[in-house]
Amino acid sequence: MPVIELRGIKREYRMEVKKGSESNDGQSAVVVRALRGVDFSARAGEFVSVMGPSGSGKSTLMNILGCLDKPSAGTYTLDGIETSKSDSDTFAYIRNRKIGFVFQSFNLLARTTALENVELPLFYRRREKNGKRQSVHARKERASAALREVGLHERMDHFPSQLSGGQQQRVAIARAMVNDPAFILADEPTGNLDTGMTLEIMGLFQELNRQGKTIIMVTHEPELAAYTRRIITLRDGELVSDQEVTETRNALDDLAQWKSDHALLAEASSTEGIT
Ligand SMILES: Nc1ncnc2c1ncn2[C@@H]1O[C@H](COP(=O)(O)OP(=O)(O)OP(=O)(O)O)[C@@H](O)[C@H]1O
Ligand SMILES: [Mg+2]
Repeated sequence: MPVIELRGIKREYRMEVKKGSESNDGQSAVVVRALRGVDFSARAGEFVSVMGPSGSGKSTLMNILGCLDKPSAGTYTLDGIETSKSDSDTFAYIRNRKIGFVFQSFNLLARTTALENVELPLFYRRREKNGKRQSVHARKERASAALREVGLHERMDHFPSQLSGGQQQRVAIARAMVNDPAFILADEPTGNLDTGMTLEIMGLFQELNRQGKTIIMVTHEPELAAYTRRIITLRDGELVSDQEVTETRNALDDLAQWKSDHALLAEASSTEGIT
């Protein structure tokens, strides 16, 4: 059974357009067809890039996948639940429990430690699967285990301002995973990071994916899509291609190469400085 199943997804935005003052009826509506019938499904353990030019419908699709918005037509089944039919409470529950969000801007709370940031999604979850209330201790344990998974266990008492961009994004990834969601939805997750940190984060996603995590990532950059295993492309609200990546690049290999090139460059410029 697929984790994500979209069938005939359409999303139309109706925009009231004010006419010139000389007209007496005042208003008319323009319909923007942002998605025009998208079919897409993903199985557990996939790592998919969503690509497409500006205005092609990527954010609209992300909002629907993330249960932040409902389609105008079509069905979205997530982990066996038909989301389009759910009431707003169920819809919010699905969003909090089934999806782990990672954003370009990290979206961490500034006055809150790394550990507390990661604990946050656990507050929505009032009871454990066995019906018991979760203890404060259990919550801290889960959050620190998630930070350990992203290699940031030693920094759990740091505030976001005391962490590098790459480390902040690791905290955000730990937060996205702490509820053990059905999939991780990442929107340009390395958009604010330099090359080194970008490769580190892509390496982390690849490692999580090897452990079985399902990841959907929106990116503008083909170089980043090359680290994923499947690329879907939108154009004018339609899914125009869906391709397996035959030779996925290894981000940590590229990181090692980048570091050694960098070291050579630094060496070269320092010798230049001496002469
Ligand atoms: N709230 C809205 N109201 C009206 N039209 C909208 C709204 N949001 C998006 N659109 C339109 O829907 C289409 C798809 O927009 P969307 O934001 O999904 O594109 P995108 O692929 O994310 O683009 P970008 O790469 O620039 O972020 C565009 O034509 C856009 O103008
Ligand atoms: Mg967008």
